[in-house]
Amino acid sequence: MKNIKKVLALVLALVMLFAASACGKSAVPSTTPETKNEATPAPSTEAPQEVVEITYAKGVDVTPATGKIIETFNKRYEGKIKVNFVEMPSDTGKQHDQYVTSFAAGGSEYDIFDADVIWPAEFAQADYALALDKYVERDNLDLSKYMTGPVAAATFKGKLWAMPRFIDAGMFFYRTDIVDKAPETYDELIEMAKANKGKNGTQFGFVAQAKQYEGMVCNAVEYIAAYGGSVVDGEGNIVINSPETIKGLKKMVEVFTSDFVPSNITTFTEPESCTSFIEGQSVFIRNWPYQWFMCQDESQSKVVGKVAFAPLPKGDVKSASCLGGWLAMINKNSKNPDAAWEFLKFLAGPEGQKISAVDGGLAPTYIPLYDDAEVVKVNPHFGDKGFVEGLKVAVPRPVSPIWPKLSEIMQIEISKALAGQQTVEEAVANMEQQMKAAVADAQ
Ligand code: GLC
Repeated sequence: MKNIKKVLALVLALVMLFAASACGKSAVPSTTPETKNEATPAPSTEAPQEVVEITYAKGVDVTPATGKIIETFNKRYEGKIKVNFVEMPSDTGKQHDQYVTSFAAGGSEYDIFDADVIWPAEFAQADYALALDKYVERDNLDLSKYMTGPVAAATFKGKLWAMPRFIDAGMFFYRTDIVDKAPETYDELIEMAKANKGKNGTQFGFVAQAKQYEGMVCNAVEYIAAYGGSVVDGEGNIVINSPETIKGLKKMVEVFTSDFVPSNITTFTEPESCTSFIEGQSVFIRNWPYQWFMCQDESQSKVVGKVAFAPLPKGDVKSASCLGGWLAMINKNSKNPDAAWEFLKFLAGPEGQKISAVDGGLAPTYIPLYDDAEVVKVNPHFGDKGFVEGLKVAVPRPVSPIWPKLSEIMQIEISKALAGQQTVEEAVANMEQQMKAAVADAQ
């Protein structure tokens, strides 16, 4: 118990910042793992150099960013390294399970892959990933230029297992052609969503992520923290059964079962909510920072120039935003770890992160990019002090090797409350009991 508490406490360190999830179809041509190593060997007359092919896996990207990163890298390393892309599902839980199935069987089809901030501890513990310390030292990478939260998320038992790519924090977006300010509290959100639903062609007042999956847990963490509750305390104890958590989750149930959200909101993940908002169907949305970029994309958005961003509404205590984000890791069984590292260094370095920000709207973990004029021009919120401060205080999910289990408990119990199958009080008591048992089991 003590050890697990230590682990939970340790990993409670900030996990900073999405969004492999996005709306619509991928903009990146994918290659199946089987197509790897198809390079025709160069003629053997004069010292041929074999091209090393590696496979990079990540969730669906509807923006051009991933394609551009790979293209730029492949051009630069022409004749040496070729990166092939494999597209994974957008849902982080589904991606996770696909990797675990492959890695647990010792698979080597994915050399490098994007990892949700909540995975490194688990993947390190399970021995699926390559520790990166020796590469970072060899190439003199300056980790102090990266946000501390994501670096903490990449670190487990004193070693670095991932390089941070981008940071996510829950944000609020509203239609400026319908309202002239964002609601400041969840109660005000309820009033304003009711009053404005239906205006300017909208069908809904608010959309968010309420399906039974990790993204819904992120929403729950926000309501819980906004009303003063938390899932675990600083020492890793499960403290979810509190009046504050109950109040927060009751507000979440009130919002998600109201008549101003889509009647099928419990099927909504990020892509469904993003699409609904950019199609002009909703007055308000809760989503990750990339939503801004999607709203400005003339090829997909009907709300270009009609959207502003704001912090999430406050509960009794504060406005709380869940920390998310993605890093990249190397498969322990990769046959080409050195080539995978070269790509990882580019992907998570200033150049790769700049492409992600400018061509994909993702918030950098590499701090100097917040002063880059091009990055801020495309993403005005990155130049907003409030936004950057918000990233620093966003609420991490407890990152532990058993987080998937703890999250699954929350997903099931909160979904039952959303479906009216149990009260919030019952959900919270069930979560407490099952989470405590999971922690004890993991001793
Ligand atoms: C975003 C976040 C990630 C989170 C996921 C939930 O991708 O970056 O941390 O787990 O959304 O859907």
